[in-house]
Amino acid sequence: MNQAQQELLQAAREAAELAYAPYSRFRVGAAVLTTGGVFAGANIENASTNLGICAERAALTHARMRGEQEIIGIAISCPDARPNEDGSIDEYGAMPCGACRQWLAELAPSAWVVTSSSDKVYGLEDLLPCAFQLHMDNSN
Ligand code: THU
Repeated sequence: MNQAQQELLQAAREAAELAYAPYSRFRVGAAVLTTGGVFAGANIENASTNLGICAERAALTHARMRGEQEIIGIAISCPDARPNEDGSIDEYGAMPCGACRQWLAELAPSAWVVTSSSDKVYGLEDLLPCAFQLHMDNSN
């Protein structure tokens, strides 16, 4: 992870403090880096369980609504990820869920992805090969 990626991860850590996760008690923060700055999001849950939104999609929405379309990278922080018995964090403890990967594939296809659970830098080609694309016949 380079310095820009570490800084973005710090922004994601701060975003996680703004999560609303009273049901899962699993806070997630995300920060999107664009050519225009850093845009944060956090998971926001709801008593009607399925209506919650993930941090990554909140951050992507935030960036879009500020007119940002050139997404360079995204960082994800899961401060409540349970450590393994030896104190380490599972490499996949802060990976984006499938729905968020589909959003990233569409809105940030060339972004790098870093997380609080690994030093690795992922690309969308790693996270969602063969992403769904809409090819529709508009003739009828
Ligand atoms: N969550 C995210 O915010 N991002 C993900 O990629 C995976 C899961 C949230 C949804 C829910 O509020 C909590 O984490 C537990 O699943």
